[in-house]
Amino acid sequence: MKRVYLIGVDLGTSGTKTILFDSLGNIVASKSAEYPLHQPKNGWAEQNADDWIDAGFATVKAVLDISGVSPGDIAGIGISGQMHGLVMLDAGGEVLRKSIIWCDQRTAEECREITQRVGEKKLIEITANPALTGFTASKILWVRKNEPDIYRKCRHILLPKDYLRYKLTGEFATEVSDASGMQLLDVKRRSWSDEVLKALDIEPALLGKVYESKDITGYVTKSAAQSTGLLEGTPVVGGAGDNAAAAVGVGVVKNGRAFTTIGTSGVVYAHTDKPIIDPQGRVHTFCCAVEDAWHVMGVTQAAGLSLQWYKRNFYPEKSYSELTKAAENVPLGANKLFNLPFLMGERTPHLDADCRGAFIGLSAIHTKDDMLRAVLEGVTYSLKDCLDILTGMGMTFSRMYACGGGGTSAFWRRMLSDVFDLPVATTKCAEGPALGAAILAAAGVGVYENVPAACDRMVQDDTLQMPDKTLGAAYTANHSFYKKLYPALKASFSDLAML
Ligand code: XUL
Repeated sequence: MKRVYLIGVDLGTSGTKTILFDSLGNIVASKSAEYPLHQPKNGWAEQNADDWIDAGFATVKAVLDISGVSPGDIAGIGISGQMHGLVMLDAGGEVLRKSIIWCDQRTAEECREITQRVGEKKLIEITANPALTGFTASKILWVRKNEPDIYRKCRHILLPKDYLRYKLTGEFATEVSDASGMQLLDVKRRSWSDEVLKALDIEPALLGKVYESKDITGYVTKSAAQSTGLLEGTPVVGGAGDNAAAAVGVGVVKNGRAFTTIGTSGVVYAHTDKPIIDPQGRVHTFCCAVEDAWHVMGVTQAAGLSLQWYKRNFYPEKSYSELTKAAENVPLGANKLFNLPFLMGERTPHLDADCRGAFIGLSAIHTKDDMLRAVLEGVTYSLKDCLDILTGMGMTFSRMYACGGGGTSAFWRRMLSDVFDLPVATTKCAEGPALGAAILAAAGVGVYENVPAACDRMVQDDTLQMPDKTLGAAYTANHSFYKKLYPALKASFSDLAML
């Protein structure tokens, strides 16, 4: 029988990772390429869309070269990516400005405008979320208001991974999971909302065609084949936003299953066969990469990003595993030091673009290792806030899968398990989003019958960490203290933004 292979591309915030898998989900070759994040102002975040393409093309070419797999044996490609980023193209398909990405916080005013134009209740009813600075719609309105010449030239609006799709296939397309984060999709119906587009005065023709995540959206063009070494005509499926792809990559494709990821952002994600919505909008409800299903997720903006920031400033010479080792040597509670991980404002649970990070309780006895432990604990408490909202909505979980860079640390997984009071599991392949994208390709081109069947063959459980009740009780007491800090500082954060 002919062997088939699949490629999963994960277009992340710090870099793009491309992995070539066999049809059982084993990694055959993997390659990453990094690119910068530009922060021209406090709270702004932009990237060069063409950096993504250079990284995407170079890493696809590299995995073919490293593996020696014949391009003709690649059955399909799936793309996963950072969500919400705005890519604007002119009539010739050229990029018009840097992409304003998911963690940019400049659009508080445009969010108020969206709420006023659509109506608060209607907006949540249709898009399943309140207007949020992270989402794409407010970024579109910002460009229209502040850079009218660019808006006038804009003919196509794409999300980051969908720009890579365009470069690979020539198609302007997206899929339901990522499109949910644009705030222009009718999330229950899984199609663009005429009503929202009309209220915001956005031309529907600017948007790509919406597919289900496993559907074939196009085929590799001759020119993309020349740049990547792929065969012209190789199918490219919809793929998914990074979290929906990670869910597939860890097998969270059935009711009752959940995972948490600590990447640049941190997420607690639960699969559901009904589009249930938090009326206060503290967690997002999006279409998931499985047909007729949705997911509810809480997002903490700066999870891995907090540790990255800490490493850059205090321990540039140490590796991440040395950092978590150093944190492990500090007692639980970091000698009464707390960290609020709001370096990029916060979504869940506060929905506050103006809040910022803080160390509370800093004393002359503290060392930079205490601060490090406080950072890890602060991120974990913020993830627990996400979990608490999901359980408050009636969702129940018997275990939590862990993924992302943070999920590879046994110490962080122990902390998650104790704080969540849940068994924390990992899967054999730590590359959730890339594997998820490859699984969607496998289901889309017919290697397997559907996404859950592909997961059964391509995802395998690995470790399981059980919670420690005594440590859990100590974390719970500290989490109660942590929860009081944001309300106490909220007004100061608004004042700070006005300074
Ligand atoms: C999800 C979100 C992040 C980004 C970056 O809503 O904004 O998870 O996708 O990873």
